[in-house]
Amino acid sequence: MVNVILLGPPGAGKGTQAKRLVDERGMVQLSTGDMLRQARSSGTEMGRRVAHVMDRGELVTDDIVIGLIEEKLTHAEGAGFIFDGFPRTLPQADALGRLLDKVGQRLDAVIEMQVDDAALVARISGRVTCGVCGAVYHDQTHPTRQPGVCDACGSTDLRRRADDNEASLRQRLMEYYKKTSPLIGYYYAKGQLTTVDGLAAVEVVAEAVRRVLDKG
Ligand code: AP5
Repeated sequence: MVNVILLGPPGAGKGTQAKRLVDERGMVQLSTGDMLRQARSSGTEMGRRVAHVMDRGELVTDDIVIGLIEEKLTHAEGAGFIFDGFPRTLPQADALGRLLDKVGQRLDAVIEMQVDDAALVARISGRVTCGVCGAVYHDQTHPTRQPGVCDACGSTDLRRRADDNEASLRQRLMEYYKKTSPLIGYYYAKGQLTTVDGLAAVEVVAEAVRRVLDKG
């Protein structure tokens, strides 16, 4: 059982790699972004509150996302957890440590995926996601085999995210540099950080991720 954090700016490829680990190893992907998008589409009061924050590219409050992770950690089972988009602030990182202790688990690795800003803009502006199974595509670099049809599940519900526009992406990047990038030093100091080149091809990044997990 291996628990890992995938850390990186918007568009670094965290979701893409997390889904591969789910398929290859039966790990459980805990994506706070996906959980928040589910909450907003369910029409709950919490969903309405977070929708505006997400569309502006700002971070949702720590209490909300820590609560979401706590709920999943205590109920999900699998061959380890992949934390995708969580933690994003130092208080979230501290909370994750406490939650893992509480459920008798430990963090095995933190993988920082490094990608420069220009590549992120190109990736985000071409991203398409399957609304049914969550498979991730890109208009230019990873199109579906049949236009408009998900390769993985055959659904035609292919979507672009509301926050995948230039203004929101700029804000998301600023939030990353201000509030999330300090986590690189936090986990480096704990001896848990490995950095991989997120600019490499998907399969090359996947191999680098595998190496880290198999070492841990
Ligand atoms: P979230 O959903 O976590 O979005 P994000 O961090 O901005 O990350 P993305 O999902 O945009 O990118 P990714 O790294 O997963 O890239 P992907 O694999 O899709 O968060 C959204 C919002 O929710 C936040 O802004 C915030 O408001 C809120 N939120 C979430 N968590 C929170 C928290 N913990 N605290 C507070 N607020 C929170 O890839 C992108 C594209 O690139 C795809 O098209 C893909 O095909 C392509 N691609 C991937 N890898 C490669 C590669 N190696 N080469 C070429 N193309 C590639």
